[in-house]
Amino acid sequence: MKKSALLLELDRSKDYVSGEQLSQILGVSRTAVWKQIQGLREQGYEIEAQPRIGYRLLKRPDLLLPEEIASGLGTDYLGQEVVHYDEVDSTNDAARRLAQQGAPAGTLVVAERQTGGKGRMGRSWISPAGEGLWFSFILRPKMLPQEAPRITLVAAVAVAQALRSLTGLDIRIKWPNDLLIKGKKITGILTEMNSEIGRINYLVVGIGINVDINPISLPPEVRVKATSLSAYLNRKLSRLELLRRCLEELERYFEKWQVGGFDKILEEWKQLSATLGNRVQVMVLEDLIEGLAEDVGADGSLLLRLDDGTSYQVVAGDVMFGAKSD
Ligand code: BTN
Repeated sequence: MKKSALLLELDRSKDYVSGEQLSQILGVSRTAVWKQIQGLREQGYEIEAQPRIGYRLLKRPDLLLPEEIASGLGTDYLGQEVVHYDEVDSTNDAARRLAQQGAPAGTLVVAERQTGGKGRMGRSWISPAGEGLWFSFILRPKMLPQEAPRITLVAAVAVAQALRSLTGLDIRIKWPNDLLIKGKKITGILTEMNSEIGRINYLVVGIGINVDINPISLPPEVRVKATSLSAYLNRKLSRLELLRRCLEELERYFEKWQVGGFDKILEEWKQLSATLGNRVQVMVLEDLIEGLAEDVGADGSLLLRLDDGTSYQVVAGDVMFGAKSD
Protein backbone atom coordinates (compact mmCIF):
# COMPACT_ATOMS: atom_id res chain seq x y z
CA MET A 1 0.00 0.00 0.00
CA LYS A 2 1.32 3.43 -0.87
CA LYS A 3 1.18 5.87 2.01
CA SER A 4 -0.24 8.47 -0.33
CA ALA A 5 -3.32 6.29 -0.87
CA LEU A 6 -3.99 6.27 2.85
CA LEU A 7 -3.39 10.00 3.10
CA LEU A 8 -5.70 10.59 0.17
CA GLU A 9 -8.49 8.70 1.94
CA LEU A 10 -8.01 10.56 5.22
CA ASP A 11 -7.91 13.82 3.32
CA ARG A 12 -10.96 13.05 1.23
CA SER A 13 -13.20 12.15 4.11
CA LYS A 14 -12.39 15.21 6.28
CA ASP A 15 -13.99 13.17 9.09
CA TYR A 16 -13.25 9.91 10.91
CA VAL A 17 -12.66 6.90 8.70
CA SER A 18 -12.80 3.54 10.42
CA GLY A 19 -9.88 1.11 10.27
CA GLU A 20 -12.28 -1.39 8.69
CA GLN A 21 -13.26 1.04 5.92
CA LEU A 22 -9.63 1.95 5.25
CA SER A 23 -8.58 -1.67 5.06
CA GLN A 24 -11.40 -2.39 2.58
CA ILE A 25 -10.79 0.64 0.37
CA LEU A 26 -7.04 0.09 0.30
CA GLY A 27 -7.22 -3.72 0.14
CA VAL A 28 -4.85 -4.37 3.08
CA SER A 29 -5.21 -5.71 6.62
CA ARG A 30 -6.15 -3.46 9.54
CA THR A 31 -2.72 -4.10 11.03
CA ALA A 32 -1.15 -2.79 7.83
CA VAL A 33 -3.35 0.31 8.09
CA TRP A 34 -2.22 0.84 11.69
CA LYS A 35 1.44 0.49 10.74
CA GLN A 36 1.05 3.07 7.98
CA ILE A 37 -0.70 5.44 10.40
CA GLN A 38 2.27 5.09 12.75
CA GLY A 39 4.63 5.77 9.87
CA LEU A 40 2.77 8.95 8.98
CA ARG A 41 2.80 10.09 12.60
CA GLU A 42 6.56 9.59 12.71
CA GLN A 43 6.84 11.92 9.73
CA GLY A 44 4.89 14.59 11.60
CA TYR A 45 1.29 14.03 10.52
CA GLU A 46 -1.12 14.48 13.42
CA ILE A 47 -3.70 11.72 13.19
CA GLU A 48 -6.34 11.22 15.85
CA ALA A 49 -7.41 7.66 16.59
CA GLN A 50 -10.77 7.15 18.33
CA PRO A 51 -11.51 3.59 19.49
CA ARG A 52 -14.42 2.07 17.52
CA ILE A 53 -14.79 5.25 15.45
CA GLY A 54 -11.65 5.51 13.38
CA TYR A 55 -8.90 7.85 12.28
CA ARG A 56 -8.96 11.54 11.46
CA LEU A 57 -6.23 13.70 9.94
CA LEU A 58 -5.74 16.77 12.13
CA LYS A 59 -2.59 18.40 10.81
CA ARG A 60 -0.06 17.91 8.06
CA PRO A 61 3.61 18.57 8.79
CA ASP A 62 5.25 21.59 7.21
CA LEU A 63 7.67 19.31 5.40
CA LEU A 64 8.47 18.81 1.74
CA LEU A 65 7.51 15.16 1.79
CA PRO A 66 7.12 13.31 -1.52
CA GLU A 67 3.38 12.64 -0.89
CA GLU A 68 2.77 16.31 -0.23
CA ILE A 69 4.71 17.49 -3.29
CA ALA A 70 2.87 14.98 -5.49
CA SER A 71 -0.56 16.11 -4.40
CA GLY A 72 -1.69 18.54 -7.11
CA LEU A 73 1.67 18.73 -8.93
CA GLY A 74 1.02 19.47 -12.61
CA THR A 75 4.21 18.18 -14.25
CA ASP A 76 4.91 15.24 -16.55
CA TYR A 77 8.42 14.36 -15.40
CA LEU A 78 9.89 17.04 -13.13
CA GLY A 79 9.45 15.96 -9.51
CA GLN A 80 7.63 12.77 -10.37
CA GLU A 81 10.41 10.93 -8.49
CA VAL A 82 11.26 12.62 -5.20
CA VAL A 83 13.98 11.88 -2.66
CA HIS A 84 13.46 13.80 0.57
CA TYR A 85 16.02 14.35 3.31
CA ASP A 86 15.56 15.96 6.68
CA GLU A 87 19.24 16.74 6.44
CA VAL A 88 21.82 16.20 3.71
CA ASP A 89 25.23 17.61 2.82
CA SER A 90 24.07 19.20 -0.44
CA THR A 91 21.06 18.29 -2.59
CA ASN A 92 23.30 18.84 -5.64
CA ASP A 93 25.72 16.19 -4.38
CA ALA A 94 22.87 13.83 -3.51
CA ALA A 95 21.35 14.31 -6.98
CA ARG A 96 24.75 13.69 -8.58
CA ARG A 97 25.10 10.42 -6.66
CA LEU A 98 21.63 9.37 -7.88
CA ALA A 99 22.40 10.40 -11.46
CA GLN A 100 25.56 8.26 -11.37
CA GLN A 101 23.38 5.32 -10.41
CA GLY A 102 21.12 5.97 -13.41
CA ALA A 103 18.23 7.94 -11.85
CA PRO A 104 15.91 9.28 -14.57
CA ALA A 105 15.63 12.86 -15.79
CA GLY A 106 13.30 14.84 -13.57
CA THR A 107 14.34 13.12 -10.32
CA LEU A 108 14.07 15.69 -7.56
CA VAL A 109 16.12 15.83 -4.38
CA VAL A 110 14.81 18.08 -1.67
CA ALA A 111 16.10 18.71 1.85
CA GLU A 112 14.76 20.52 4.88
CA ARG A 113 18.32 21.45 5.76
CA GLN A 114 21.73 21.26 4.09
CA THR A 115 24.91 20.92 6.12
CA GLY A 116 27.20 21.69 3.17
CA GLY A 117 25.04 23.76 0.82
CA LYS A 118 27.11 24.90 -2.16
CA GLY A 119 26.99 28.20 -4.02
CA ARG A 120 28.64 29.23 -7.27
CA MET A 121 32.39 29.92 -7.40
CA GLY A 122 33.11 27.54 -4.51
CA ARG A 123 31.09 29.53 -2.01
CA SER A 124 28.81 28.01 0.62
CA TRP A 125 25.04 28.42 0.79
CA ILE A 126 23.28 28.89 4.13
CA SER A 127 20.37 26.42 4.28
CA PRO A 128 18.60 26.33 7.67
CA ALA A 129 15.83 23.81 8.41
CA GLY A 130 12.38 24.69 7.15
CA GLU A 131 13.28 28.29 6.19
CA GLY A 132 13.80 27.84 2.51
CA LEU A 133 13.56 25.61 -0.50
CA TRP A 134 16.78 23.69 -1.10
CA PHE A 135 16.32 21.39 -4.06
CA SER A 136 18.08 19.90 -7.07
CA PHE A 137 16.92 17.93 -10.07
CA ILE A 138 18.52 15.79 -12.73
CA LEU A 139 18.28 16.56 -16.44
CA ARG A 140 19.63 14.48 -19.30
CA PRO A 141 19.30 16.87 -22.24
CA LYS A 142 20.38 15.90 -25.72
CA MET A 143 22.56 18.93 -26.34
CA LEU A 144 26.18 19.94 -26.56
CA PRO A 145 28.03 20.76 -23.32
CA GLN A 146 28.64 24.33 -24.54
CA GLU A 147 24.88 24.90 -24.67
CA ALA A 148 24.45 24.08 -20.98
CA PRO A 149 24.79 27.67 -19.68
CA ARG A 150 21.48 28.41 -21.37
CA ILE A 151 19.74 25.98 -19.01
CA THR A 152 20.65 28.20 -16.14
CA LEU A 153 19.15 31.29 -17.80
CA VAL A 154 15.98 29.40 -18.65
CA ALA A 155 15.76 28.15 -15.06
CA ALA A 156 16.19 31.71 -13.74
CA VAL A 157 13.30 32.98 -15.88
CA ALA A 158 11.09 30.05 -14.84
CA VAL A 159 11.73 30.47 -11.12
CA ALA A 160 11.42 34.27 -11.33
CA GLN A 161 8.01 33.89 -13.00
CA ALA A 162 6.91 31.29 -10.42
CA LEU A 163 7.88 33.55 -7.52
CA ARG A 164 6.45 36.68 -9.14
CA SER A 165 3.11 34.99 -9.73
CA LEU A 166 2.81 33.67 -6.17
CA THR A 167 4.10 36.71 -4.30
CA GLY A 168 3.38 39.66 -6.58
CA LEU A 169 6.91 40.93 -5.77
CA ASP A 170 9.07 42.60 -8.39
CA ILE A 171 11.69 39.87 -8.66
CA ARG A 172 14.57 40.55 -11.06
CA ILE A 173 17.46 38.53 -12.44
CA LYS A 174 21.10 39.42 -11.96
CA TRP A 175 23.32 37.82 -14.60
CA PRO A 176 23.53 34.97 -14.96
CA ASN A 177 20.92 33.60 -12.61
CA ASP A 178 20.59 35.24 -9.21
CA LEU A 179 17.10 36.37 -8.31
CA LEU A 180 16.85 39.67 -6.45
CA ILE A 181 14.29 41.78 -4.66
CA LYS A 182 15.25 45.44 -4.47
CA GLY A 183 18.84 44.51 -5.28
CA LYS A 184 19.13 41.81 -2.61
CA LYS A 185 19.47 38.13 -3.39
CA ILE A 186 16.69 35.70 -2.55
CA THR A 187 17.54 32.82 -4.89
CA GLY A 188 20.64 31.23 -6.34
CA ILE A 189 21.04 28.54 -8.96
CA LEU A 190 23.99 26.20 -9.23
CA THR A 191 24.14 24.02 -12.33
CA GLU A 192 26.68 21.23 -12.42
CA MET A 193 27.44 19.10 -15.43
CA ASN A 194 28.85 15.68 -16.13
CA SER A 195 29.89 15.54 -19.77
CA GLU A 196 32.21 14.14 -22.38
CA ILE A 197 33.41 16.03 -25.42
CA GLY A 198 30.26 16.57 -27.49
CA ARG A 199 27.83 14.97 -25.06
CA ILE A 200 26.15 15.81 -21.74
CA ASN A 201 25.72 12.75 -19.54
CA TYR A 202 23.61 14.62 -17.03
CA LEU A 203 23.06 18.00 -15.46
CA VAL A 204 22.17 18.74 -11.88
CA VAL A 205 20.32 22.01 -11.43
CA GLY A 206 20.30 23.12 -7.79
CA ILE A 207 18.07 25.92 -6.60
CA GLY A 208 18.07 27.66 -3.24
CA ILE A 209 15.20 29.98 -2.35
CA ASN A 210 15.27 31.98 0.87
CA VAL A 211 11.61 31.75 1.86
CA ASP A 212 11.37 32.37 5.59
CA ILE A 213 14.89 33.26 6.68
CA ASN A 214 14.99 36.22 9.02
CA PRO A 215 17.74 38.42 7.52
CA ILE A 216 18.86 39.29 11.05
CA SER A 217 19.93 35.66 11.50
CA LEU A 218 22.33 35.89 8.55
CA PRO A 219 26.01 36.77 9.09
CA PRO A 220 26.52 40.53 8.50
CA GLU A 221 28.56 40.03 5.31
CA VAL A 222 25.70 37.95 3.84
CA ARG A 223 22.91 40.16 5.20
CA VAL A 224 24.13 43.18 3.22
CA LYS A 225 23.42 41.39 -0.04
CA ALA A 226 20.81 38.72 0.75
CA THR A 227 17.25 38.64 2.02
CA SER A 228 14.20 36.39 1.96
CA LEU A 229 10.70 36.45 0.48
CA SER A 230 8.98 36.65 3.86
CA ALA A 231 10.89 39.82 4.72
CA TYR A 232 8.80 41.53 2.01
CA LEU A 233 5.43 39.88 2.64
CA ASN A 234 3.17 40.06 5.64
CA ARG A 235 1.73 36.60 5.15
CA LYS A 236 3.17 33.13 5.49
CA LEU A 237 4.16 31.46 2.26
CA SER A 238 3.60 27.78 1.70
CA ARG A 239 6.93 26.21 0.76
CA LEU A 240 5.04 23.33 -0.84
CA GLU A 241 3.01 25.62 -3.03
CA LEU A 242 6.14 27.54 -4.04
CA LEU A 243 8.01 24.34 -4.83
CA ARG A 244 5.17 22.94 -6.95
CA ARG A 245 4.82 26.20 -8.87
CA CYS A 246 8.60 26.32 -9.49
CA LEU A 247 8.62 22.75 -10.80
CA GLU A 248 5.66 23.46 -13.07
CA GLU A 249 7.20 26.64 -14.46
CA LEU A 250 10.60 24.98 -14.90
CA GLU A 251 9.10 22.12 -16.90
CA ARG A 252 6.94 24.55 -18.91
CA TYR A 253 9.94 26.72 -19.79
CA PHE A 254 12.12 23.71 -20.70
CA GLU A 255 9.29 22.66 -23.04
CA LYS A 256 8.93 26.18 -24.44
CA TRP A 257 12.67 26.18 -25.15
CA GLN A 258 12.49 22.85 -27.00
CA VAL A 259 9.50 23.88 -29.07
CA GLY A 260 9.96 27.61 -29.63
CA GLY A 261 13.76 28.01 -29.33
CA PHE A 262 15.91 29.98 -26.94
CA ASP A 263 15.42 33.49 -28.35
CA LYS A 264 11.97 34.13 -26.88
CA ILE A 265 13.13 33.04 -23.44
CA LEU A 266 16.22 35.21 -23.74
CA GLU A 267 13.91 38.15 -24.48
CA GLU A 268 11.99 37.39 -21.27
CA TRP A 269 15.29 37.14 -19.40
CA LYS A 270 16.20 40.61 -20.67
CA GLN A 271 12.82 42.01 -19.60
CA LEU A 272 13.47 40.71 -16.09
CA SER A 273 17.12 41.70 -15.99
CA ALA A 274 18.53 43.80 -13.17
CA THR A 275 21.92 43.87 -14.88
CA LEU A 276 21.50 45.23 -18.39
CA GLY A 277 21.93 48.96 -18.78
CA ASN A 278 24.01 49.28 -15.60
CA ARG A 279 27.67 49.90 -15.07
CA VAL A 280 29.05 46.77 -13.47
CA GLN A 281 32.23 45.21 -12.28
CA VAL A 282 32.76 41.56 -13.07
CA MET A 283 35.28 39.29 -11.41
CA VAL A 284 36.61 37.07 -14.19
CA LEU A 285 39.07 34.63 -12.68
CA GLU A 286 41.61 36.98 -11.07
CA ASP A 287 40.69 40.12 -13.04
CA LEU A 288 38.19 42.82 -12.24
CA ILE A 289 36.56 44.03 -15.47
CA GLU A 290 34.45 47.17 -15.44
CA GLY A 291 32.01 48.40 -18.05
CA LEU A 292 28.44 48.90 -19.18
CA ALA A 293 26.35 45.71 -19.25
CA GLU A 294 24.99 46.04 -22.78
CA ASP A 295 23.51 42.72 -23.73
CA VAL A 296 23.36 38.98 -23.24
CA GLY A 297 24.40 36.82 -26.18
CA ALA A 298 22.57 33.82 -27.61
CA ASP A 299 24.97 31.55 -25.71
CA GLY A 300 24.06 33.24 -22.43
CA SER A 301 27.28 35.25 -22.11
CA LEU A 302 27.26 38.84 -20.81
CA LEU A 303 28.44 41.52 -23.22
CA LEU A 304 30.17 44.53 -21.70
CA ARG A 305 31.11 47.82 -23.35
CA LEU A 306 34.43 48.87 -21.85
CA ASP A 307 35.46 52.49 -21.42
CA ASP A 308 37.83 52.35 -24.41
CA GLY A 309 34.80 51.45 -26.54
CA THR A 310 35.72 47.82 -27.06
CA SER A 311 33.31 45.02 -26.35
CA TYR A 312 34.11 42.28 -23.80
CA GLN A 313 32.36 38.93 -23.52
CA VAL A 314 31.96 37.33 -20.08
CA VAL A 315 31.17 33.62 -20.16
CA ALA A 316 31.30 33.03 -16.42
CA GLY A 317 31.84 35.46 -13.61
CA ASP A 318 30.40 37.34 -10.73
CA VAL A 319 28.66 40.66 -11.34
CA MET A 320 28.82 43.51 -8.85
CA PHE A 321 26.82 46.69 -9.19
CA GLY A 322 27.83 50.10 -8.09
CA ALA A 323 30.91 50.35 -10.23
CA LYS A 324 32.37 53.84 -10.19
CA SER A 325 31.08 55.97 -13.03
CA ASP A 326 33.32 58.44 -14.75
C1 BTN B 1 24.62 30.64 -5.92
O1 BTN B 1 23.94 31.64 -6.14
O2 BTN B 1 25.79 30.77 -5.54
C2 BTN B 1 24.01 29.28 -6.13
C3 BTN B 1 23.35 28.78 -4.90
C4 BTN B 1 22.65 27.45 -5.09
C5 BTN B 1 22.11 26.87 -3.80
C6 BTN B 1 21.32 25.64 -4.01
S1 BTN B 1 20.48 25.10 -2.55
C7 BTN B 1 20.07 23.61 -3.32
C8 BTN B 1 21.26 23.16 -4.11
N1 BTN B 1 22.20 22.43 -3.29
C9 BTN B 1 23.35 23.06 -3.13
O3 BTN B 1 24.31 22.65 -2.45
N2 BTN B 1 23.34 24.22 -3.80
C10 BTN B 1 22.08 24.42 -4.49
